[in-house]
Amino acid sequence: MTHANTLTIALSKGRILKETLPLLETAGIVPLEHPDKSRKLILDTNLPHVKLLAVRATDAPTYVNYGAADMGVAGKDVLMEADGDNLYELLDLKIAPCRLMVAGPQGAQPAGHRLRVATKYVRSARQYFAAKGEQVELIKLYGSMELAPLVGLSDVIVDLVDTGNTLKANGLVPLEHIAEISSRLIVNQHAYKLKHHIIVDLVQQLQQAVNDNG
Ligand code: ATP
Ligand code: PRP
Repeated sequence: MTHANTLTIALSKGRILKETLPLLETAGIVPLEHPDKSRKLILDTNLPHVKLLAVRATDAPTYVNYGAADMGVAGKDVLMEADGDNLYELLDLKIAPCRLMVAGPQGAQPAGHRLRVATKYVRSARQYFAAKGEQVELIKLYGSMELAPLVGLSDVIVDLVDTGNTLKANGLVPLEHIAEISSRLIVNQHAYKLKHHIIVDLVQQLQQAVNDNG
């Protein structure tokens, strides 16, 4: 765990970071350098005891789970895939909202084989199809899932959908809704006990910032 008098917050780079910074600012935390402009991965803030870590979106729960960061912000999609034995999900920050969906060509039907599903979200997809009692073949990809049905790698995909523009641009349609996704504030369980006051204060301020956002 990080030093008892400091608070380290892991922030997912990319779209989550952009939407988290205004929330943090409302809660009184401002990085001294802009994370998108700096090459630094540990960022000082206006509060001497608060540091921000700039991490890959998929890595945020790992830093918090191991206590290398006390707190963090991660998409629910990422949390559903991650091992989170040592973390609590404290708050729905209601940022980066989207849906986890099954998508594919209109009327996608497997031709003489089990439904092939390409996805970065293997755990969520396995759970979803198992709950429906449907046996599927899962194909792990790391990005550009929409390509898979176009070139015969899979029948359908499980991916995030927001505007639907990416699906549309590739001639695919949303087929089944799996889960509503947004970013969550997570905290290491041990840090939550040891740094209770400072964490609870920040959570209250962030809750207020979320409410103000409507
Ligand atoms: P990594 O860098 O680890 O590969 P990534 O490229 O998916 O991750 P982002 O695109 O910044 O990183 O997405 C981070 C998070 O933002 C996702 O985990 C999800 O919760 C949310 N998200 C992803 N795509 C969208 C979208 N189109 N609309 C809204 N939120 C999204
Ligand atoms: C995400 C997701 C979809 C797209 C959906 O990708 O994986 O491809 O957004 O958004 P839409 O419905 O508004 O088109 P992202 O833009 O994050 O690209 P990446 O996963 O390759 O980083």
